[in-house]
Amino acid sequence: MPIALIILAAGQGTRMNSDLPKVLHKVAGAPLLHHAMRTGAALDPECTIIVTGHGAEEVARAARDYDEAALIAHQAEQKGTGHAVAQALPGLQGFDGKVVVLYGDTPFVRPETLQAMLESPADVVILGFQSRPETRYGRLVLREGDLLDRIVEWKDASAEERAITLMNSGVLAADAMLLADLVAGLKNDNKAGEYYLTDVVGAAVARGLTARVVTCPEAETLGVNSRADLAAAEAAFQSTARAEAMENGVTLTAPETVFFGFDTVIGRDSIVGPNVIFGPGVTVESEAEIKGFCHLEGCHISRGASVGPFARLRPGAELAEDVHVGNFVEIKNAILDEGVKVGHLTYLGDAHVGEHTNIGAGTVTCNYDGVMKHRTEIGKRAFIGSDTMLVAPVRIGDGAFTATGSVITEDVPDGALAIARAKQETKAGLAVRLFEKLKQIKAAKAKGAE
Ligand code: UD1
Ligand code: CA
Repeated sequence: MPIALIILAAGQGTRMNSDLPKVLHKVAGAPLLHHAMRTGAALDPECTIIVTGHGAEEVARAARDYDEAALIAHQAEQKGTGHAVAQALPGLQGFDGKVVVLYGDTPFVRPETLQAMLESPADVVILGFQSRPETRYGRLVLREGDLLDRIVEWKDASAEERAITLMNSGVLAADAMLLADLVAGLKNDNKAGEYYLTDVVGAAVARGLTARVVTCPEAETLGVNSRADLAAAEAAFQSTARAEAMENGVTLTAPETVFFGFDTVIGRDSIVGPNVIFGPGVTVESEAEIKGFCHLEGCHISRGASVGPFARLRPGAELAEDVHVGNFVEIKNAILDEGVKVGHLTYLGDAHVGEHTNIGAGTVTCNYDGVMKHRTEIGKRAFIGSDTMLVAPVRIGDGAFTATGSVITEDVPDGALAIARAKQETKAGLAVRLFEKLKQIKAAKAKGAE
């Protein structure tokens, strides 16, 4: 059965108190909208429509960043969830399949839950959850078993209905043609004066059709309405990600201090030390070690590599097998082939380092001339002496050697040794005389001040 996805993301999110549209606030380094889109994408939808309103352009851009093929439906005025879906439906003309409606501010719905909804034998399926009676969610009024009678919004509910603890999450699945028909019949004669999507349940039942509820834990339907909710969502994401990593065979020595990105992947028998932060786009193979206090984003770490403590891998850093990156090393847009060692205090940017090359402490690829970036190529089994400045563009050959403290501005051929520093002069006894002279100056100054 073909699936179409509608994600509602037009709301202002007033309680965020922000210039940024609510769905663009981030959890685990990714906008809330991307979390919802990822959940929906697991259903392999034929089309995805994002309903935009507040901050429409920015939201549309973010949607296309995640999925180039995403369609955008603009809802100029926010007249309710039913009205929002109505804006998306013209994009589905001729589509014969099921529609799933999600909210852009609800990041944690599991694909398995949506699958269960699609398998439920009913014309309209609603995702519900149990919560405390003092919450203001829409109430799911049951007929019998999991058969629904209608949904009542809290504002419109009687005292008896408000006592119901089975809540509406807002997630809905229905046949596309039927949904279009039901939505076309919605009215706004309610306390909020809005077109409620929730009214399609009562309308379906009135036509003799069936509506059912599928339930999930409340945590799954956690919606973000405030900065406090955002922080709670981040905490929930992290605790799930930590538990999953450990289940997948990753050792976390201090799990509560490790922060994962939206899409972090770590292989079995890898070890992650304390206070490690994963930004977006990090993949780590098996049996790698990331020691404490590392910051990683957009990078790949291969099997057996070790990183840190206190290392920073930026986008485009690619570490092959058994590479060692030590403390206070920053790597950006650079490929380090197998067995490369970069132990200490180094910056490698826009570079390629051949296998088993050793990079000495304090090496810097001087990749930026103030206007353009330039590349540094270093061959295999080379030795870069400590405190070498590699002024790019420059190439160091296989097995080449740069002397400590060199400023390398010209290519070094294979097997050559380059020394580019001033020659040392040693003057016998001069240190003793110099110190004496300095002491005399100091004493004379002290006397003058009396
Ligand atoms: C909605 C449900 C309620 C449910 C709750 C769960 C309705 C009428 N009510 O209420 O039963 O318990 O969600 O959180 O559906 N949106 C638009 N355009 C609009 C209005 C809303 O795109 O015109 C989007 C919002 O950006 C948001 C989502 O739809 O992502 C839900 O809207 P919101 O105003 O939060 O609905 P609630 O009143 O909370
Ligand atoms: Ca809400």
